[in-house]
Amino acid sequence: MRPLLTACLLLLFLSGCSPRVLTGQSDARTLELNAATSVAAIQPTMYGIFFEDINFAADGGLYAEMVKNRSFEFTLPKTGWLEPQTDQFSLNARSGKSDVIKTGQDQANVNFLRVTVKGPDYVLINEGFRGMGVKVGAEYDLTFDAAVGDGSISEARFELIDTAGSVLGATSVKLSGSDWKEYSGTLKSGGTAAKARLRISFQGTGVVDLDMISLFPRDTWKGRKKGLRKDLVQLLDDMDPGFLRFPGGCIVEGRTLARRYQWKKTVGPVAEREYLVNRWNTEFNHRPTPDYYQSFGLGFFEYFQLAEDMGAEPLPILSCGMACQFNTGELVPLDELDPYVQDALDLIEFANGDVSTPWGKVRRDMGHPEPFNLKYIGVGNEQWGPEYIERYKVFNDAIKEAYPDIVIVSGSGPFPDGEFFEYGMEQLTALGAELVDEHYYRSPEWFRENATRYDNYDRSGPKIFAGEYAAQSVAIASPDNKNNWNTALSEAAYMTGMERNADLVVMTSYAPLMAHADAWQWTPDMIWFNNLESYGTANYYVQKLYANHAGTDLLTITEGGQPLTGQRELYASAVKDAGKNEIYLKVANTGTSPQRLTINIKGAKPGATVTVLTMASDDLEAVNSFTAPTKLSPAESTVALQRNQLDVEVPSHAFVVYKLKL
Ligand code: AHR
Repeated sequence: MRPLLTACLLLLFLSGCSPRVLTGQSDARTLELNAATSVAAIQPTMYGIFFEDINFAADGGLYAEMVKNRSFEFTLPKTGWLEPQTDQFSLNARSGKSDVIKTGQDQANVNFLRVTVKGPDYVLINEGFRGMGVKVGAEYDLTFDAAVGDGSISEARFELIDTAGSVLGATSVKLSGSDWKEYSGTLKSGGTAAKARLRISFQGTGVVDLDMISLFPRDTWKGRKKGLRKDLVQLLDDMDPGFLRFPGGCIVEGRTLARRYQWKKTVGPVAEREYLVNRWNTEFNHRPTPDYYQSFGLGFFEYFQLAEDMGAEPLPILSCGMACQFNTGELVPLDELDPYVQDALDLIEFANGDVSTPWGKVRRDMGHPEPFNLKYIGVGNEQWGPEYIERYKVFNDAIKEAYPDIVIVSGSGPFPDGEFFEYGMEQLTALGAELVDEHYYRSPEWFRENATRYDNYDRSGPKIFAGEYAAQSVAIASPDNKNNWNTALSEAAYMTGMERNADLVVMTSYAPLMAHADAWQWTPDMIWFNNLESYGTANYYVQKLYANHAGTDLLTITEGGQPLTGQRELYASAVKDAGKNEIYLKVANTGTSPQRLTINIKGAKPGATVTVLTMASDDLEAVNSFTAPTKLSPAESTVALQRNQLDVEVPSHAFVVYKLKL
């Protein structure tokens, strides 16, 4: 052992100190937590989820369909389908061919595949969404539509194959009749693979038409047939979110008006939902994904159902007649806005209307006669300027006239300050807007420096929905951004400021939510997944800590009579949960030294044992990953409380939640 190291260790041993003391521990600071008075009610919607189909979050992600382009509706209609052949003389080419037959224009499901089989060696392969994830022993539900034409085709064989071509599971399905019929089968996988594919071959020769070739894991969220990916919904549900905002994001607006999100095309029978190219497919040159489409298998009914499953308020956001202003900025003239406004009114009927109403009946026919109890609706996503305000007014008047109790979410544009923001806020305040959506994608420093953002907001103006935010480790939308501890800790610090202002800030959500590790366009994202696994980032665990300890009543926490808002790198907020009779104290220490704290609790009698949930790392670049999915996640411990006084040491670079049982 080197002499210097030996000396240090000896010193440590003799002093009985921890290494942190030697690295410079700060003096103890005394805080006062006033538990006697509820300063404001914390809204149950305080911490929620923002969902957008970006990064393959829906098709290829949450929506568990494993076959890409199952009904041959992509612009290049054989995208995702392979007929292995090296040249025109290959065995496959000599054994058969497939052609997409188009039966119409601009409608749902107009294409099908005509397969001509000349010999037993013809195969057709679907590559899935960057492969298909299959697990040993798991079962997969196959369905497809087929109509047998001329010839002797009597059977289709479906095989799950791995990248080496080995068969992991298979099923054969007898075919008969020239009418379209739905067929089904089950494949059980004998192995685990993240990049399996589905291979189809035929018995006999001749012609067979195929459509809606679909494969789902049987083990979906709540066991629903053709449902959602269980591990991903579980991560969301574990947050206990207060609301679910859907379907975006810029996807609401579209790069052009024609490609905006139209909710009516996403409900009813799945096969009748019209495909749409995903607006994120070629948005970024650094991450082109031309094979990114929306099947809308995860459509508005499924979003409402998901919100209901999680006990979250549904918050749909609709186009206000403006295409994305970062793209074309196309505008619907004010006198042609009616169909857009009608979409909003009809959506409220779809969600809440009696089953005797036209849209209530659609909901009932989809299996949900009870209303979804919609309370909020968003008008536009990230619009700005007078064009937005003019359109917002039209929507506001029409919605309020028909549904005075529905809360309308309006937007303040893409930035948290500057010309667009100032103008939007001023106008919306003047118009008496109820709830304004703010977006901020800023540096970690910005988050730490802006924890006081809401302290001086006008309390007579609109309530605030921090609808999209995330600290960017490099720059906004840079492909090099990481979900590292620096970003998560900075968000944790900032969120104390949201919580301290819970009388004003009533909804908050991190964005974007999810990313496929092989098919993303935007980073950072809260949850990462591949075809087999998923993990929450450090940012996810920060969000979860807040959401799981949202409380019902805001308390004050002060130092020397002043709110703690980041002075000397210490941030804090405190809430009480009246139902659970618990107090949650959240503290973020963004400093490089541990911080000893004495917290005096006034106006309540907590039990002697306090649960401590700690996220800490001096490696600010640290990240979670598929191999270390919980590296940055809360560690649980306890600390004793004596005579209403809590003496603790908050580690350096740490976010800690103290749970006090009353
Ligand atoms: O979250 C990604 C994008 O960022 C959203 O779609 C948009 O609203 C914002 O610009």
